[in-house]
Amino acid sequence: MKIAIRYYTRSGNTETLARAIEDVLGVKAESVAVPLHEKVDILFLGCSYYAFDVDEAVKNFITQNKDHIGKIVCFGTSAMMKSTHKPMKKVCGAAGVLLSDGEFHCRGSFGPMHKGHPDETDLKNAAAFARKTVK
Ligand SMILES: Cc1cc2nc3c(=O)[nH]c(=O)nc-3n(C[C@H](O)[C@H](O)[C@H](O)COP(=O)(O)O)c2cc1C
Repeated sequence: MKIAIRYYTRSGNTETLARAIEDVLGVKAESVAVPLHEKVDILFLGCSYYAFDVDEAVKNFITQNKDHIGKIVCFGTSAMMKSTHKPMKKVCGAAGVLLSDGEFHCRGSFGPMHKGHPDETDLKNAAAFARKTVK
């Protein structure tokens, strides 16, 4: 099974999750600035909420790489939201890309909120989620 990991981050929280998934799967996690060069069965795609939406860079990545994506599995962090599934579904639907119902989402620090997150437990949970997803 071919697997890739991409993430978008502004303050490093989502990249921290991406590194935990990288470690457990042995697949290098790269920024969405790096396109997919071959078709993958599963793309772990990490992003957060900024003003109630995912960043344009994430949307553009999906659109521009759609022919190389078998299925997207989301992971991410945010201060208040519990999932990026809704905005991701909209983008994936328009691009004709399959989006998994399963995702990993946890709190990410934002100013004085959720300091230290993602923490060790979040990282362990993200790694366990990734392992289970590719089983
Ligand atoms: C400009 C900005 C807007 C944000 N808007 C939201 C939001 O609408 N909902 C939310 O839950 N978190 C919001 N957050 C919090 C981030 O989603 C949270 O800090 C996340 O962990 C950032 O991930 P990153 O470090 O990978 O960029 C916002 C953060 C920033 C900087």
